[in-house]
Amino acid sequence: MRRPLLVGNWKMHTTILEAYLLVSEIGKCAAGLDDRDVLLAPPQIALHEVARVLQNSDVSIASQNVCWKGEGAFTGEISPTMVKAAGGVAAIIGHSERRQIFHEDNEMINKRVLGALKYDLMPILCIGETLEERESDKTFSVLEDQIRQGLAGVTAENMEKTVVAYEPVWAIGTGKTATKEQAQEVHAFIRKLLAEMYEKDIAESVRILYGGSVKPDNVDELMAQTDIDGALVGGAALKADSFCRIINFI
Ligand code: 13P
Repeated sequence: MRRPLLVGNWKMHTTILEAYLLVSEIGKCAAGLDDRDVLLAPPQIALHEVARVLQNSDVSIASQNVCWKGEGAFTGEISPTMVKAAGGVAAIIGHSERRQIFHEDNEMINKRVLGALKYDLMPILCIGETLEERESDKTFSVLEDQIRQGLAGVTAENMEKTVVAYEPVWAIGTGKTATKEQAQEVHAFIRKLLAEMYEKDIAESVRILYGGSVKPDNVDELMAQTDIDGALVGGAALKADSFCRIINFI
């Protein structure tokens, strides 16, 4: 009943020309996939070009981050209205690289989530524990804080439009995927927490993605887990053949 969602996050890779070439390939292999949603998050500067190529296709566009204001003095930021005008429908928010490298905290991430919703972009709230936190048994408390604070003020109605992505920091770009059991355990925990915060029906409808070294050879077993509704893919989304295999998961 939850429609699978596969997201390619290109991070800070591809010039506009490279983005054009890559998306031209991906657009072809995503054609006709009518039982799942596919989103691409190119670098902000290529967002409009990628959206242009994907016009009338089955693939939609997300931005890699978004400001909470429609416009204003926020040097270096991109606003939700700009994302929408460029053809975007969603925004990745709170990615661990934003949290760790750029020191975005839960409070700022919450503002971004509320801003995205205000301007009708679908927020993809990323959460995840570091290796140190996992090894000191803090995984669930860290994730609970990230969810409760990241979603503060999000109404039940808006929660139905929101996506959560679990990306254990130790699995990102390392080739070390969480096992399907580890991922399922956390996804079930997230859904239970959402049921406490909202209602069971809402928790059952929210899509929870897994991210962290998702590859063609592990996507099928991850997607077979009860509470894994999609994937947030970094490295393997930068090659058309591997991303095509991932979006065609069985
Ligand atoms: P990798 O797939 O390269 O591990 O990256 C995951 C990620 O951070 C997607 O947002």
